[in-house]
Amino acid sequence: MESLEDTLRGAIRTIPDYPKPGVLFRDITTLLGNARAFRDAIDALVRPHAVGTVDKIAGIEARGFILGGAVAHQLSAGFVPIRKKGKLPHETVRVAYSLEYGLDEMEMHRDGVKPGEKVILVDDLIATGGTAEAAVKLLRQIGADILAACFVIDLPDLGGRRRLEALGVPVRTLIGFE
Ligand code: PRP
Ligand code: ADE
Repeated sequence: MESLEDTLRGAIRTIPDYPKPGVLFRDITTLLGNARAFRDAIDALVRPHAVGTVDKIAGIEARGFILGGAVAHQLSAGFVPIRKKGKLPHETVRVAYSLEYGLDEMEMHRDGVKPGEKVILVDDLIATGGTAEAAVKLLRQIGADILAACFVIDLPDLGGRRRLEALGVPVRTLIGFE
């Protein structure tokens, strides 16, 4: 039988020079559209965690919403969205983070996680780790206990895993692209 790694690797589409020259964009829309690959990815993200041990899944906009929602369902956990600024209607906490060009801000509802709740952070991909680090800062600002950060794809050359581990967050990824 095909390994998980082969299934996922075969289901992710690579687009050269998107969104700009020199970038190999790892497109998970093809994975999401492949029933077996989608199911296997969610099962693998869920596997280390027992139902009832996680209060909330925090998903990072936009692709973390799709994966995080499915993980939350499997673990019978709640889901909390971490969004680009200006999208959430209630009182938020906000953090600035650096992108390749300049700064952006992300936010979440202040009451999205209660102090002490056990949270898993989910996104599709970790590259520099700047996005996930900002999400960790937001969650900790409101007292979350972050159990782990999970990603389908790691781009290990960009160092995101080490950046999160330096913050004391265990990182799990399913597949790496050099
Ligand atoms: C992608 C990806 C992660 C982030 C990782 O999102 O889904 O959220 O980049 O990069 P980093 O580790 O270097 O911070 P993107 O910024 O493309 O936003 P989108 O999902 O809203 O398109
Ligand atoms: N986010 C940052 N780098 C990326 C890449 N190479 N593919 C998809 N999303 C990304």
